[in-house]
Amino acid sequence: RSKVTIKTIGRMYRHNEPISVMTAQDYPSGMLVDRSGIDMCLVGDSLAMVALGYESTTSLTVDEMLHHCRAVARGSKNPFLVGDLPFGSFEASPVDAVRVAQRFIKEGNVEAVKLEGGLEMAEHIKAITRVGVPVMGHIGLTPQRSSALGGFRVQGKTCKQAQRLLADALALQEAGVFALVLEAMPAEIAGYITSKLKVPTIGIGAGVNCSGQVLVMNDIMGLFDRFVPKFTKEYANLNEIITNGLKEYNNDVKSRSFPEQKHTYPIDPVQLEKFWQ
Ligand code: KIV
Ligand code: NA
Repeated sequence: RSKVTIKTIGRMYRHNEPISVMTAQDYPSGMLVDRSGIDMCLVGDSLAMVALGYESTTSLTVDEMLHHCRAVARGSKNPFLVGDLPFGSFEASPVDAVRVAQRFIKEGNVEAVKLEGGLEMAEHIKAITRVGVPVMGHIGLTPQRSSALGGFRVQGKTCKQAQRLLADALALQEAGVFALVLEAMPAEIAGYITSKLKVPTIGIGAGVNCSGQVLVMNDIMGLFDRFVPKFTKEYANLNEIITNGLKEYNNDVKSRSFPEQKHTYPIDPVQLEKFWQ
């Protein structure tokens, strides 16, 4: 796959070609996303939970996030690279939002930022796009606000909530998002929102009628099992594979069956003879 730019994303959207998005959190996972031909790589703040073991995403700092963004950027070259703005770094004002977004470009080496929130974030998004940083929106289940939402719960299940989601989506489009993540909402609502927008929607737990899909790598590869959302699909069980490998290594060490001759460096017998003298 050649380099994906924001223009490529727009072209795929116009041609009704599904846009694939996958998270990464470090150099190897970024490299794997790149090699798999996926269109967009997201350094999601879900890494707070799946890579750093925090209880929620709200503890994650900008510096921690930038550290991970830089690592992913070294591994993922061709996918369009997006970094998540952490909770507390952008909401207070559009000026804050611009400052942190610029740090993500300068220090995180990403090409765009994503931020959670509805129409109340429109001014922030306008301000960021005005200084030349593309923004991806994120509505529906917004994990940074899980306390206010009463947990990780599906959104848009009532007519009123669904209308609010549509209003949010239209406001974010107006504010200039290049794409919009729709998380955990009925497929009909996500499909309807998608049909009303002129920018791509990226669904996660939002059905097949979005313009693209995103999932969290650790979830789908069986590397995080503290809880598994309904919308993830298991493509591999790396927990099991890695645990089995580590157990085998442990046994090998304890039984001295590792290392073998082939893992060992030879020495010239003449040199060795001299050494024994
Ligand atoms: O943090 C994340 O991984 C995300 C995606 C699930 C959209 O925000
Ligand atoms: Na996120």
